Parts: sequence; C-alpha cells; structure tokens
Amino acid sequence: MTTAPTDQPDADHPRQTLWLDVISDADAPAQAERIAERIAQAAALLRAGGLVAFPTETVYGLGADATNAEAVARIFVAKGRPHSDPLIVHIPDASWLARVARDLPPLALAVAAQFWPGPLTLVLPRAASIPPLVAAGGATVGVRAPAHPIAQALIRLAATPIAAPSANRFMGVSPTTAAHVFADLNGRIDAILDGGPTSVGVESTVVDLTTDPPRILRPGGVTLEALRAVIPNIQGPADGAAANTTDAADAADAADETPVATLRAPGQLARHYAPQTRLLVFDAAGERGRAAVLAATQRARARGERVGALATDDEAPALLALGAQVATLGPADDLGAVAQRLYAALRSLDDGRVDVIVAHTFGQAGLGLALWDRLRRAAGGQLQAVEE
Ligand code: TXA
Ligand code: MG
Repeated sequence: MTTAPTDQPDADHPRQTLWLDVISDADAPAQAERIAERIAQAAALLRAGGLVAFPTETVYGLGADATNAEAVARIFVAKGRPHSDPLIVHIPDASWLARVARDLPPLALAVAAQFWPGPLTLVLPRAASIPPLVAAGGATVGVRAPAHPIAQALIRLAATPIAAPSANRFMGVSPTTAAHVFADLNGRIDAILDGGPTSVGVESTVVDLTTDPPRILRPGGVTLEALRAVIPNIQGPADGAAANTTDAADAADAADETPVATLRAPGQLARHYAPQTRLLVFDAAGERGRAAVLAATQRARARGERVGALATDDEAPALLALGAQVATLGPADDLGAVAQRLYAALRSLDDGRVDVIVAHTFGQAGLGLALWDRLRRAAGGQLQAVEE
C-alpha cells in the first residue's frame, strides 16, 4: 500500500479531543437546548474542515465534510487508513442523492425508499462534487442515510454530505460507544458526540447498484433476505455463504495481493475488525457451536492458558465454571442483541487479560450472515471447522 498516510496526527491537530455528551435523558427536558448547542458546535467543526466522531445506528462514524478534500484527507491520517479504502458518504435522505451521485440506476430510489434511513449503503456513480479521495480514486461512491437522530441532525446542520468510516484505527474493531472512539482516536480528531451505545452494532450492508445483477459487497444490518424482496436478483457476498475454511485462507492471501483497482470493497480484507488477542471462531451455530467452544475452553485451560469467551447468556455459566472470562452477547435466539453487543464484547476481552478468545458463528440466515462475516475477519479470515 504505497499511499498509506503517516501514523502521526497533523502538526496543527488538537492534542485533546473534545467530548460532547448528547445523550438525552427523558427526565431532563431542559437538556434539549444544551444538546442542540453541542450538535451545532460539532456541525461548525465539520464545516470548518474538522473531524467529528458521531453515533449512527450501526457504529460510530468519523465524519468530515465529504466535499472538502483536505478534510477528507485528515480522516485517513487519523485512522492510519490507506487511501485505497473508500469512504461512505452520509446524507439525511434520498433528496440529497443528486449532491453526491449521478446517473442514478432506476433501482436506487426504490431501494432507498424501502431501507433509508437505515443500515444500507448504496454504491452509485460518483458525482463530480465528491473528491476522488473519498472513493479511493474510483468512479463510484458509497452513500447511506443513517437512521440515528444525532447523525441526522448533525448532517442537516452541517448542510453538507459527511464522509465517515467507522471511527476506529484501521483494521481494528469498530466502535459502538464513544469510549471506544476515545480509546482509539483521542488527540487525533477534533470532537466526539457521545450519543450512548449504538443499536444495530454491526456496520451497514454495502450493495453495489452499478453492476448487473446488483451485488452485496459487505453483509450488514440489512439482511440479504430483506434486500431480495426489492432486488430479487441480488447476488450475495462473493466470499459469503459458499466460502469454506480453506477458501477463507486463500482469500486472506488474495486480499493482501489484490490491486487497489480491483478491491471493490475493502471491507473484504480478510483480516479486519480484529482484536489484538488471538481469536478462534468455531464455524457452527447452536448446540454444536456451544459444544465446540466448551471443548476448546477446556483444552486451553488444561494447557494453563487464560481464556476469554464470547457467549450467549445460556452458555455463560458452564464457561465461567471452567474459569473462562465471559463476555455475554444476550439471548441465543436474538441475533439483533448478539450483533448489538459483539464489538463491545470483543473489545472487553481484548485488554491483555486473556491469552485466547473463543467464539462460534450463528448460522448465515438473517443477521447471522453479517455476524459470520465479522467473526471470520476478526479471526484473520480463518474459521475453525467443526465436525458434524
Ligand atoms: O455502518 C457503516 O457503514 C459505518 C457507519 C459509520 O456508517 N461505516 C463504515 O465505514 O463501516 P467503513 O469505512 O468502516 O467501511 C466502509 C466500507 C468500505 O470498506 C468498503 O467496503 C465500502 O464501504 N465502500 C465504500 N465506498 C465504496 C465504493 N465506492 N465502492 C465499493 N465499496 C465501497
Ligand atoms: Mg471500518
């Protein structure tokens, strides 16, 4: 990656990041004015070319004015992200599409009407007003309208489309709280709007509408099944349901070699969303997944290793009894809860207290596909096969 920016924040960058609490408390209506002021302050920073992290319904984004190439360049420096990885441009609703995209495919408005605001990014032909840097030099742009009220208010007040990747250091675990953002980016960005934990917890689904048939480049908060209702011929992710553990290893090699121009969705990097600690993900859901994680915990404990486990509520007691540190993901039958907690759980076990983290997948139906994708990438592109 020849275009990787330096690891240092700009010389003129503030050392300390401003923390703006915008969590609304139903018992304190007087807060509304203070929150509005803080959002206005953040919008002014964006208009001045600054960097502001803000909550969306998926994960926290690191925003900059998408029409200001210098501001956008600062995002790459703050994250340590290579310029080959394109950014998603955030708008409040489909009426702004003409500001960021051109030659809209006929499907675009129908899909937007169904899923926006929400966790869906559409890849469309890029308008000239959006600098090439946003799109890794490509002719397309990823666009989404986030559903979070703080994001909505911020973009409307800034009155400009906002380019925003997830607000974490490159390759790391995406942030679902302001504290996660602070841990990764304090001193490297101007401000963080703290709107509390995000609700969806995994990133948006990225759909390329410039190809025929349209294709999912990254599974996410909007499911393949829901998309099929509006785009019957939509293709699933290229490395999705069909990939087995061996293919995933090949994909890991390929991703390192892939020329920038052909890397259609850099979220496809085999290692991504990854903790520092070694992570073993067993590719089995339900009872088989539970048994695989228990057995791996037992083996690791027998070797004297400290084990962290990602576990649904019902799985926790047996793992705790084996001496594992457990981060709970909620009820086993609620994949929405699992997605919402996944990244915070991974981060909580990734502080050096354990030698290995163990987890299992959740099938590939519904949100299971996005969970499968993120768990696999967090584990470096490699899943552990489980005997039938
Ligand atoms: O939920 C989300 O999508 C979050 C929130 C902040 O909106 N954002 C996010 O951004 O996850 P980021 O930069 O971490 O991931 C964006 C991914 C890229 O890695 C790439 O896969 C895809 O979106 N992408 C963006 N623009 C694209 C384009 N023009 N063509 C193909 N893929 C694109
Ligand atoms: Mg990201």
